[in-house]
Amino acid sequence: MSKLKIAIQKSGRLNEDTIQLLKDCGVSIENGIDQLKATASNFPLEVLFLRNSDIPQYLADGVVDVAIIGENTILEKNPKLNVVEYLGFSKCRLSIATPKGVLYSNIKNLEGKKIATSYPNTLMRYLKENNVNAELHEISGSVEIAPNIGLADAICDLVSSGSTLFKNGLEEKEVILKSEACLVVSPVISKENQLILNKLQFRIQSVLRARK
Ligand code: PRP
Ligand code: MG
Repeated sequence: MSKLKIAIQKSGRLNEDTIQLLKDCGVSIENGIDQLKATASNFPLEVLFLRNSDIPQYLADGVVDVAIIGENTILEKNPKLNVVEYLGFSKCRLSIATPKGVLYSNIKNLEGKKIATSYPNTLMRYLKENNVNAELHEISGSVEIAPNIGLADAICDLVSSGSTLFKNGLEEKEVILKSEACLVVSPVISKENQLILNKLQFRIQSVLRARK
C-alpha cells in the first residue's frame, strides 16, 4: 500500500510542536536518535526529517508529498507552493531592525543602506514594493550580530520573543510579514496519496478545533 511522505524539520523550533501535532492526531512515529526517516506504525505515513530550507524544493519536485513548515520559508523559497492549512504554532514575524538609538521614521530611511538577512527574496520584494534600493547581504544564521561587527546598518530576520534583538542591542522597526507553521502540499502528489492526506488533514483540523 502507498504511504504519504511528509517532510518535517529535523531540528529547530518547529520540530517539537510538529511531532506533538502528529501525536495528537494519533499518528505514532518512533524515531531513533539520528534517524532521518521514520514510518508511522498506525497510519500510512513516512516521515522525513529534513533541513528547513531544503523542504520547498523537495515539495516542488514531488520527492515529498506534503510538509509541515513555517510559511516564512515557503514565501522565501517558493511562494507558488500551496498552503492548505495554518497550524497555529511557531508564530513569528519577519522584521527589519536597526541598532538602538538609530533614527528611523520609515522604510525610505533604508535607501542605500546595507541590510543583512537570511530572507533576501522576501526582503527584496518588500523593498521593491516600496521603491527602496538597498544592499543586501545574505547570511544563513546569527544575522543579529551583523550590525555589531560592521557588516550591515540593519538586519531583516525572524522575531519571536524579541530576545535575540534585545541581546544584540537592536530595535524592531518594521514588520514585513507574519508567519506560522502550515501544511504545504506538493503540486505533483499522486491521487492515492492525496486521499491519505485528506484523512490526515481531517485529523489535524479536529485537533486544532479541540485546542481552541
Ligand atoms: C531564530 C531567528 C532569530 C531568533 C528569533 O534564530 O533567526 O534570530 O530565532 O527568536 P526570538 O525573537 O525569540 O529571540 P535561531 O535561534 O533559530 O538561530 P539561527 O538564526 O542561527 O538559525
Ligand atoms: Mg537567528
